[in-house]
Amino acid sequence: MKTHILGIESSCDDTSAAITADDLLLSNIIANQEVHRIYGGVVPELASRAHQKNIIPVVEAAIQKAKINKNQLKAVAYTRGPGLLGSLLVGSSFAKSFALGLKIPVIEADHLQSHILVHFIKDESTVKPPPAFPFLCLTVSGGHTQLVMVRDYFEMHLLGQTIDDAAGETFDKAAKIMGLPYPGGPLIDQLAREGNPEAFRFSKPRIAGFDFSFSGLKTSILYFLRDRLKEDPGFIEKNKTDLCASIQSVIVSILMEKLIQASAETGIREIAIAGGVSANSLLRKELMNAGELNHWNVFIPKPEYSTDNAAMIAITGYFKYLRKEFSSHRDTPYARNSFISSAYSS
Ligand code: KG4
Ligand code: ZN
Repeated sequence: MKTHILGIESSCDDTSAAITADDLLLSNIIANQEVHRIYGGVVPELASRAHQKNIIPVVEAAIQKAKINKNQLKAVAYTRGPGLLGSLLVGSSFAKSFALGLKIPVIEADHLQSHILVHFIKDESTVKPPPAFPFLCLTVSGGHTQLVMVRDYFEMHLLGQTIDDAAGETFDKAAKIMGLPYPGGPLIDQLAREGNPEAFRFSKPRIAGFDFSFSGLKTSILYFLRDRLKEDPGFIEKNKTDLCASIQSVIVSILMEKLIQASAETGIREIAIAGGVSANSLLRKELMNAGELNHWNVFIPKPEYSTDNAAMIAITGYFKYLRKEFSSHRDTPYARNSFISSAYSS
């Protein structure tokens, strides 16, 4: 008999519910919150309210699409953190109440571990086997930039991470400076396709080891545009595609350099990417190129599994269910940190 798990994700501004049967994904419903667009970023209070409104219809739609009865569910997995506390509270409270009603266990999932575990989701189009342990994963999202060595489903070691801004945040802030709507990452990606990545040069930070830094780049983009706008108020409009291509190129090159270095130093050639920024077309292309050059076995999630989704929570729930790792109803959400916190030691 298959193990059906309901996954709930509500850590930021997407309300999502998914159902898995063992490691096979049956449904993955995502409700995006348009309400933040006019503010140029996520407004936490509005996000919690939108989750409250969306959670029941999203869960109902996930159950319906999976063509199962809710009594077939074996457990409810939910994102415990990190994320916006008010948003996490909606998902975690719902998950606990729903599980209590069905008399089934709850399973907490760490958002960052779950982003990585998307590589184990099977769906009707899956042909490639999942990555073999140990593998390296570059997790790049709006809130995080991490280079992780994955030794087992829940044995993940942090090799490096950003010391300031995240990669997605840098895309979004650069877009905001250029007057593009939030979230700017996908728009920069789209506009960059028509632009010249060599048109403008932004310098890369020099950070030791496997850590990243993006705040210097963000400031240099801000000052560069401020100076150009003084000379020509139409500068951004006239150079939008070249600016997007140049900014995207430097962000991707910062990420790829560390990934290549980490593979060379660890000798690991199973290489994965995850998180919202892993939907970026240049990052995907550069990863494929580096993969060919360095004989890597490359793993790129489908775009719908890159950005926040509950499929990743349901699959995490499945692996924890197999280990009987259930959670207490007394567990409260956490806004910061993650289970990927132990420093790497060989
Ligand atoms: O994983 P995610 O959905 O949420 C967090 O956990 O943060 O990531 C969202 C981030 C945003 O910063 C968004 O701009 C970025 O992922 N993003 C992209 C692309 N698609 C989403 N950045 C660059 N290119 C894309 N195609
Ligand atoms: Zn995320």
